[in-house]
Amino acid sequence: MTQDEQKRAVAAAAIGYIPAGCIVGVGTGSTANYFIDELAKIKNKIEGAVASSDATAQRLKKHGIEVLDLNNVSDIPVYVDGADEITEHLHMIKGGGGALTREKIVAAVARKFICITDQTKLVNVLGNFPLPIEVIPMARSYVAREIVQLGGHPALRQGFITDNGNVILDVHGLQILNPVELEGTLNQITGVVTNGLFARRSANTLLLGTDNGVRTISI
Ligand code: A5P
Repeated sequence: MTQDEQKRAVAAAAIGYIPAGCIVGVGTGSTANYFIDELAKIKNKIEGAVASSDATAQRLKKHGIEVLDLNNVSDIPVYVDGADEITEHLHMIKGGGGALTREKIVAAVARKFICITDQTKLVNVLGNFPLPIEVIPMARSYVAREIVQLGGHPALRQGFITDNGNVILDVHGLQILNPVELEGTLNQITGVVTNGLFARRSANTLLLGTDNGVRTISI
């Protein structure tokens, strides 16, 4: 299967994890977009969706799926989203599309996180993909200096503003051996909104697209 076919296959497989009548948390990115297209086919069987970005909300609405405000929702049984890198422990780097903060919020509320990726995203150690960090604009230089102290090489994502009005620093050169610890350390830097490590709230299940079909890894 091509990379695109793998994305479509895992998006279709994720539908099997959606309980009837539930509110679905929906991620952001090309794989999540395929999931939205699949979700549209069962839209009459769900109550609605909570979106992790403006782009996802638009796509859901275009398909006639009701988009709910997270503040009016107390239970999200399942959140489905892609990842930029994921380990066998189901720790992830996310935020390549810049939606990491809202993704982390919806994932925090969700009872189950189903990650859907093609096989190129599975890694032994996180960090080859630059780690995105959402930062309050006035703190950009300060946060960058603090990250250099931690051994990273931050680069400002040019011409990009998040849905929350902030900037993104993409941090290169990290070999992340302890993602749980680093996630906490980075979030302690004043001016950081959140970072793209999803280790404290990791995925529960990975649906991985492979040449031979969909492989399921659960913890
Ligand atoms: C969006 O901010 C990201 O976290 C995406 O979930 C991640 O980049 C995966 O995107 P693709 O499915 O497009 O690879």
